[in-house]
Amino acid sequence: MSLVIAIDGPAASGKGTLARKLAEHYGLPHLDTGLLYRATACALLDEGLPLDDVEAAVEAARGLSLTDFDEARLRAREMGEAASVVAAMPPVRAALIDMQRAFAARPEGAVLDGRDIGTVICPEARVKIFVTATPETRAQRRALELASRGEAVDYAAILDDVRKRDARDSERSAAPLKAADDAIKLDTSELDREEVLAAALAIVERARNV
Ligand code: DC
Repeated sequence: MSLVIAIDGPAASGKGTLARKLAEHYGLPHLDTGLLYRATACALLDEGLPLDDVEAAVEAARGLSLTDFDEARLRAREMGEAASVVAAMPPVRAALIDMQRAFAARPEGAVLDGRDIGTVICPEARVKIFVTATPETRAQRRALELASRGEAVDYAAILDDVRKRDARDSERSAAPLKAADDAIKLDTSELDREEVLAAALAIVERARNV
């Protein structure tokens, strides 16, 4: 039977790393859906268009190809902010739904991570995990990640970013960041990566065996 694992959570909660590791563990394809919003925002910025140009954003979203993402560029800090702006527009979200559902419908299953996977994209997913951590922990992790890529790090600015993105992603009316009723919450504030993976594997195994 196909195994769809939906991982949601706020910015820098560790959901991307966890989703990648779960995908590897179960031999499943993985889609980081944040990249779709980042790539949409990136297309607008490249064309010199404002981020609130809904029509252009929808066109960019429809034209995305999962295989030609420049991940290094899309993962830059400013691109996350820009993505959060385009992601608040309902027509942009609508334009990206089919692509995400098609990915989840692969016969073997898939791991998807984002903000609305368990609530909107894959409400029937067999496993739903909502990953959280305090804003300070997340800002610290993001700072380490950026530093490891050689980017300049300003902890206060990153913490401010995390808080702003939490507010924008949770308060928007279109598919806001929230745990599905049947999601299992995993607070990673006090856990290292191995402990997060172990806790998540236990959640997946329990869900598979019911
Ligand atoms: O997970 P991330 O930081 O790469 O996501 C970038 C932005 O995209 C995030 O601030 C909100 C938006 N996003 C979303 O609205 N829905 C998703 N499923 C994934 C990301």
